[in-house]
Amino acid sequence: MEFSTLVDLRHSVKEYDSSATISDDQLKSLFARVVMSPSAFNLQHWTFVVARDPALKQELQAAALGQPQVGSCSAVVMVCGRLDAHTGVRDVFQGAPDEVVEKIDGIAQHIYGGSEQMQRDEAIRGATLAAMTLMYAATDQGLQSGGMIGYDPDAVTRLLEIPDNYIPVMMVVLGTSNGDMPPRSSRRPLDEVVKLEKFSGAGLS
Ligand SMILES: Cc1cc2nc3c(=O)[nH]c(=O)nc-3n(C[C@H](O)[C@H](O)[C@H](O)COP(=O)(O)O)c2cc1C
Repeated sequence: MEFSTLVDLRHSVKEYDSSATISDDQLKSLFARVVMSPSAFNLQHWTFVVARDPALKQELQAAALGQPQVGSCSAVVMVCGRLDAHTGVRDVFQGAPDEVVEKIDGIAQHIYGGSEQMQRDEAIRGATLAAMTLMYAATDQGLQSGGMIGYDPDAVTRLLEIPDNYIPVMMVVLGTSNGDMPPRSSRRPLDEVVKLEKFSGAGLS
């Protein structure tokens, strides 16, 4: 699918056909693309927890302010971000020359090692880029999706047994739309959101 078509077709969908399912093969096809997302130092901060069990989806819906799409979608994907991903540089760069690994590891420790804020920021950045890829990959496969942050992170962490070194960055519901595509929501104009040369510069017009 053309990228411009993909962008036009992706909407946040809230009404799903609750009888539609997503198979393991469909998930494999989706996530094979998702893991191609970029991440700092290629640390791949993401882990995805996919909930398809109806009872679990009901519990997640309750933890997500009762939002109905969580219960009616085919799969709820919790995109989790790893806080201590910088400790895994040696795993990611296996096979690289020792001096290269040493150098990259040193830089990563310098950037993240002493800063919980940077660890958290990077976990969120990495997981968010993956969530975006997931939503576009879903559109490309004829599925609908919706990114969500309206949930209680503690409740979701407990329900999905997310370990302490991960945070639940974004929920993405996947499924088959049960109605007309919602109208495209408005966007701020380009001259307001794109500034040339400096933030105080002219808007792109
Ligand atoms: C991080 C994030 C959190 C969101 N949280 C929710 C949510 O909890 N519930 C909801 O109905 N929509 C949620 N949305 C959907 C947005 O409202 C939607 O993306 C926005 O209105 C633009 O519409 P579009 O995605 O159809 O282009 C969320 C989107 C993002 C990216």
